[in-house]
Amino acid sequence: QKGAYPFYMLKEIDEQPGVMRNLIKEYIAEDGSIKIDTDLLKAMADSDRIYIVAAGTSYHAGLVGKELFEKLIQVPTEVHVASEFAYNPPLLSAKPFFIFLSQSGETADSRQVLTQVNQAGYPSLTITNVMNSTLSREATYTLLLYAGPEIAVASTKAYTGQIALEAILAKALGVYKQIATIKDFDVAAELTKAANGMQELVDEKGKIEKIAADMLKDTRNAFYIGRTMDYAIVQEAALKLKEVSYIQTEGFASGELKHGTIALIQENTPVVAIITDKKTANHTRSNAQEVKARGANVLYIVSRDLATPTDQIVLPEITPLLSALVAIVPTQLLAYYASIQRGYDVDKPRNLAKSVTVE
Ligand code: F6R
Repeated sequence: QKGAYPFYMLKEIDEQPGVMRNLIKEYIAEDGSIKIDTDLLKAMADSDRIYIVAAGTSYHAGLVGKELFEKLIQVPTEVHVASEFAYNPPLLSAKPFFIFLSQSGETADSRQVLTQVNQAGYPSLTITNVMNSTLSREATYTLLLYAGPEIAVASTKAYTGQIALEAILAKALGVYKQIATIKDFDVAAELTKAANGMQELVDEKGKIEKIAADMLKDTRNAFYIGRTMDYAIVQEAALKLKEVSYIQTEGFASGELKHGTIALIQENTPVVAIITDKKTANHTRSNAQEVKARGANVLYIVSRDLATPTDQIVLPEITPLLSALVAIVPTQLLAYYASIQRGYDVDKPRNLAKSVTVE
C-alpha cells in the first residue's frame, strides 16, 4: 500500500533508511558478529575470484560491490552484465565464485547464466529481495534483502539494500579470512550513518524538487559525470533519470568527456557532477568547469569533506567506500521529480516491466 504517498517510487525512496536498519537487524548481532552461514563464507574463501552477474540497476550495485570486495578484503572481483556473459563469458579463473544480484530473482538473463554456472558445477550466491524466487532456488546459497516489496518499476531501495548487504558480506568474509584491516571497517556503524544520512537527504525533498524544475523540466538530454566510485554511482543515477523522465541521459567517466562526448554540451545542457572520491575530486571539478565554460548548467553533489560553499547538494558523512548509499538519494529524487514535472506516471514508465523474464 502506498498510503499517503502519490507514487510507490517516492515511498520506496523514503524507505531506504529503514532498509539499512533492517539489514543491520537481520545480519549483525549485538556483539558485532555477522550472522551469515559459515558454509557460504568457506565456499567464498575457497575461491580465487568473485564474478558478480546482474542486469540494470543490480549491475550498478555490483560495480560498487567490486570496490568493496577488492578494497576491503583484497578479493579480485569482476562485474558482468548478465545478457553479455551468457553468450560471451570471460576466461574464468581456476576457482570462481558467482554472485547473482537480482531484486526480483527472476531476471531471465541472469537465470541463463546461473544455468550455465550450475552445469559447470561452480558455487553461487543469489542476493535477492524475493524469497524462493528462481535465482534463489537455483543458486547454492541465498541472502535476502528484507527490503519489503518494491513495486515501482524503477529500482531504488533494492539498489541501496544490495550495496549494504555486499558490505556486510565483505565484512563477514574479511573476518572469516582473518584479514587484519577488516577490524577498521565497522559495518554496523557505517550502515547506521548511511541510514541517518539518507534520512537527512529525503527530508530535504523540497530543495531537490526545485532543482529538478529549474534544470530538468524542459531539457532533451542530461549528463551525470564522476570518476572511480563516482563513475559507478553516475551510471545508476543516469539510468534512473532516463527510465522515468525519458530525458536522454548518459552517466560518464568525467575524464572521458574530452575524448568526444563534450561535443554534445550546449548552452544549458544539464550536467550533474558527483564528487565523493578525494583522489579525483579536483579532476572532476576541472571537468565540470570545462563543460560550464561551454554553457552547461552544472549541479554539484559533493561529500561534506570535499565540498565548497557553492556546491548545491552536500552529502552527509560516510566512509568513501559506501558513498553510493547517500549520493544516490538526491539522484533518485531528481529522477522522480523530473518525471512528475514532465507529466509522466513515474511508477510505470513506458516499455518497461518490473521483472524482465525474457532474454
Ligand atoms: C531499473 C531496474 C532494472 C532492473 C533490472 C534487473 O530501475 O529496475 O534495470 O534493475 O531489470 O532486475 P533484477 O534486479 O530484478 O534482476
